[in-house]
Amino acid sequence: MRVALDKKRFGPWALVTGASSGIGKEFARQIAASGINIVLVARREDLLREVGVEFSKRYGVDHRVIVLDVSREDFIGQLASATDDLDIGLVISNAGTGNPGEFLKLDRQLLQATLRLSTMAHLDITHHFGAKLAKRRRGGLILAGAMGAENGVPCMANDGAAKAYVHSLGEALHCEFKPLGVYVTVLAAGFTNTAVLEKFGLDPKTMPMKPLSVEQCVSEGLSGLLKNRSRIVPGRLNRILNALVPAFLARKMEADLLGKGLANKSAPANAPAEA
Ligand SMILES: NC(=O)c1ccc[n+]([C@@H]2O[C@H](COP(=O)([O-])OP(=O)(O)OC[C@H]3O[C@@H](n4cnc5c(N)ncnc54)[C@H](OP(=O)(O)O)[C@@H]3O)[C@@H](O)[C@H]2O)c1
Repeated sequence: MRVALDKKRFGPWALVTGASSGIGKEFARQIAASGINIVLVARREDLLREVGVEFSKRYGVDHRVIVLDVSREDFIGQLASATDDLDIGLVISNAGTGNPGEFLKLDRQLLQATLRLSTMAHLDITHHFGAKLAKRRRGGLILAGAMGAENGVPCMANDGAAKAYVHSLGEALHCEFKPLGVYVTVLAAGFTNTAVLEKFGLDPKTMPMKPLSVEQCVSEGLSGLLKNRSRIVPGRLNRILNALVPAFLARKMEADLLGKGLANKSAPANAPAEA
């Protein structure tokens, strides 16, 4: 599936945070495939440069690499000055990660850095670029949330709570920005096949439900934006589960899955993985 983006509305430039891998890299690819130039933001410079060169060559677009840690308090000033000369019509605020583990065993500084990455970064990005898009009176913003975040996610309590903030922020801005001509969509992905799964101790081949491909996750996210939907849960089965499974059961399922993943991760390398 390929989504064609209107260059007049969402171009000539788009900015993607977390573009060095996974969902963000695929956003950059699908946006470039529509002929829109891409600004790529993340911390790993080598990967960003590879992504930029590859997509520029493949799709004939320009790219700009910005090496930045968006969990830093002062990041938005740097991002603003590095992009001030560009007419940006689409912003994908996607940088994020998960730090699974028992809440009391996780380092508090790590929890705080993740909270800044998954809340304050979205706040600063939507405030700065939202004003610029509103001035143009056209454009779009996608914020990466996570399916089921409002339910509470055991073994990822802080990450889930931060994503619940993203959902609430994005859905409110969806309404506020609509009369300004700016589309806002929250991408509430379920498990998607990226490097993050390894961090959870999950193997896509043995998971009870196959994780979604990044291609499908991103194309459904972009289609949702084109229809100006406030929130998209990519994948039909995810949508059914999200609508029908009660919160207490969803929490139990996530706790079981992440608990097993953590047990697999802490098992000695030569021990058989838990069935
Ligand atoms: N995969 C899933 O199952 C899933 C499910 C629900 C929601 N999500 C959300 O989807 C988004 C993308 O995740 P993914 O699955 O694609 O994971 P991924 O492959 O690990 O990609 C995460 C991206 O975020 C960037 N990033 C992380 N911390 C950063 C920081 N402090 N500053 C700047 N960039 C940073 C990483 O780049 P660098 O390391 O180079 O900085 C990388 O490009 C995240 O917000 C995640 O929470 C994923």
